[in-house]
Amino acid sequence: MTSPLLSRRNVLLGGLGVAATAALAACTSSPGSTGTPSRTFGTPTPIPPSPGQKLIEKTLTAKPVTLDLGGRQVSTWAYGDVAPGPLVRATAGDFLRLTLDNQLPADTTIHWHGIRLRNAADGVPGLTQDPVKPGAQYVYEFTVPDPGTYFFHPHVGVQLDRGLYAPMVIDDPNEQGGYDAEWIVVLDDWIDGTGTTPDAVLKKLIADGGTASSGDMGGMDHGSMGRMSMGAGPWGDAGDVTYPFFLVNGRPPTDPEVLTAKPGQKVRLRIINAASDTIFTVALGGHRMTITHTDGHAVQPSEVDAFYIGMGERYDAVVTLKDGAFPLVARPFGKTSGGQAMALVRTAGGAAPGADVTPPELSGQVLIGSQLQPAESAKLPAKAPDATVDLNLQGSMKPYRWGINGAPFGKNEPLTVTAGQRLRINAVNMTMMTHPLHLHGHTFALPSGLRKDTVLMAPMQSFAIDLDADNAGDWMIHCHNIYHAEAGMMIALEYAK
Ligand code: C2O
Ligand code: CU
Repeated sequence: MTSPLLSRRNVLLGGLGVAATAALAACTSSPGSTGTPSRTFGTPTPIPPSPGQKLIEKTLTAKPVTLDLGGRQVSTWAYGDVAPGPLVRATAGDFLRLTLDNQLPADTTIHWHGIRLRNAADGVPGLTQDPVKPGAQYVYEFTVPDPGTYFFHPHVGVQLDRGLYAPMVIDDPNEQGGYDAEWIVVLDDWIDGTGTTPDAVLKKLIADGGTASSGDMGGMDHGSMGRMSMGAGPWGDAGDVTYPFFLVNGRPPTDPEVLTAKPGQKVRLRIINAASDTIFTVALGGHRMTITHTDGHAVQPSEVDAFYIGMGERYDAVVTLKDGAFPLVARPFGKTSGGQAMALVRTAGGAAPGADVTPPELSGQVLIGSQLQPAESAKLPAKAPDATVDLNLQGSMKPYRWGINGAPFGKNEPLTVTAGQRLRINAVNMTMMTHPLHLHGHTFALPSGLRKDTVLMAPMQSFAIDLDADNAGDWMIHCHNIYHAEAGMMIALEYAK
């Protein structure tokens, strides 16, 4: 683990293999492009739903908007007039026809994060589709096979760090329910329109090999020892960007969303981390939460005071509400400015907690999600791997350069698999930062059997992750820190043709 006595710079250089550094130094992917070897796809062939399949249709308009963050006006891009954008909800087995209407001044796409869908609808420009040009529309058609909590966002540049994200919930037709209310809680870190844009932030990260701040927040260099010593907990140095705001459902803690219910009611929380560069610790003041699912898959119910959630991860929890007004807090891990994200849970009158409240649960038993145990029903059937590949996460802050298997995306060799194989990926984080590793089109199993599509990997941590190659196509595996991904920390997983 990182010693607080070492400067971050030294730690990073010390933590990198010489060969890896040299290989990464040889090529840097250019900002604003995904660096994908360019293929062209043309207009997708429309496919009809199967007989008897329910059809869900919706149009999502990506466009410039001005949002109000507790009195502060920010101009940004969003799906419709607000961020998060509109909920897409369906039942497992339904057929979705979702039209992206691009009113942005830039190319975009939509990726349906965590959904095990047909490859052609996965939303990765250059790999599964052409980028959608300004003024153009694109129709995504796919069946949603698995219930769970998901979200969607662009797969172009660092557009996720604007307001372009929205929740997606796939209901389980066989689930009993057993709760009185459901709250969808979308977490975000916010910088767009505060004197800078995510594109400018990335440019500055690459130019400086250091921190990027919003234009009006001053330049707080979090490479300093002060910040290193803040990183008490499992994740070491957790983020690159200094954000002025953290949001729950698009609102800052000074103007929080109020979730109302009655005392004694049982609520299902669906918590989604749509942030680009922030791991949160989530707690509900005065309550313990029972975690029931992660990334859509059932786990053995686990009662916790708080839990960590990495970028791209989702956790479902149930909680029986007490009488009063309680803060639902998401505290950015390892970040010293910008406050925290908070919503208010109210079952009675009484004074609301302040924006900077620290529920004692935050310093209680904090769950690391990869330590959850899978529900029996969620396990992959036991089977020895048919093939094994290595996946090494590499890079550094100074210079700002990230890659997988010795090179940034576009220069690294795609991983390959044959349909029907059980593939083992030996994933190793060879850096001194934490990375949420995300796989498209499949879920993987950790050695415990826990099913995830996004897993936090602490500095120098490794995981052997298994997947069944049951969804042919070309898929992405990448870090869900969007700045790392865009700087090269991505690799393709291709099925042998
Ligand atoms: Cu949510 Cu490839 O990403
Ligand atoms: Cu990363």
